[in-house]
Amino acid sequence: MSNEVMSDGIVRDGMKAGDVVVVTGGGGGFGRAFALRLAAMGGRIAIWEKDAESGAQTAALVKASGGEALFIEVDLADRNDIHRAGAATLAAYGTPYCIINNASIFPRYSILDMDEDVFETTMKVNITAPFSIVKFFGPRMIEARRGVILNIASGRAIGGAPKGIGYASSKGAMLTFTKTVALEWARHNIRCNTIIPGVSFTAQPLADTSEEELVERGRKTIPLGRIGYPEDMAGLAAFLVSADASYMTGQAVAMNGGRILVP
Ligand SMILES: NC(=O)c1ccc[n+]([C@@H]2O[C@H](COP(=O)([O-])OP(=O)(O)OC[C@H]3O[C@@H](n4cnc5c(N)ncnc54)[C@H](O)[C@@H]3O)[C@@H](O)[C@H]2O)c1
Repeated sequence: MSNEVMSDGIVRDGMKAGDVVVVTGGGGGFGRAFALRLAAMGGRIAIWEKDAESGAQTAALVKASGGEALFIEVDLADRNDIHRAGAATLAAYGTPYCIINNASIFPRYSILDMDEDVFETTMKVNITAPFSIVKFFGPRMIEARRGVILNIASGRAIGGAPKGIGYASSKGAMLTFTKTVALEWARHNIRCNTIIPGVSFTAQPLADTSEEELVERGRKTIPLGRIGYPEDMAGLAAFLVSADASYMTGQAVAMNGGRILVP
């Protein structure tokens, strides 16, 4: 994807070959698909992941597909670790063009059973870490006068989540976080949007259901008759980092097979 100059001289900026992309939670699910898809667009991918095995696997898969990637082990619940991972990314690749705040945790407890420490850790991983990452790279991205931040929320941000107060609260916060970054940094040519995925075939929903039940739920309850797949979200991310989305910021784009329309 290259920059495009309009007839009045306006540049529609988008991701170019060689641009650096940070993907948090890149070890599996959507994160791995984002890494592979943006690497295929020429991105150099810094995979931030707590799980060393899956993070290294994603980096190997990107390389096997002809792309460039680096695995950085990080615990997003730890601010100092985020700063260390940020410094490692800058040393290896330089200033990111794109940050994808994708990692999250979803501890499943009712309100009364939710330990306050677990709630706090959920907020740290799901919303404080995106803030720390954006703040860490912000000065350099502003200096570069270009960049894209993609936040991954959830339908739970709108509908709430029984047995998931921390998750739902953090995802709700992500929507206003996105709008605030978009408003503050539009003048620096940095765009910020959210993807709101519907239920998809990844480890997260499979924590409390079987693969067969998940696929069946898609057939029965989703208007398009199927659950989502990481490739669906990766396609949307490819658009959102491209020049075709250069006039789009502060938005939340839902991709859920029409599920959100069903009462
Ligand atoms: N899969 C779905 O149905 C669905 C639906 C709506 C929203 N989402 C959102 O999409 C995003 C990706 O979801 P997924 O299904 O691919 O999830 P996933 O659980 O498969 O992957 C999340 C990744 O984040 C990593 N991670 C967790 N805690 C971490 C920490 N402290 N530090 C570093 N890495 C950490 C995990 O190891 C894992 O690799 C999440 O934000 C999720 O909330 C998913």
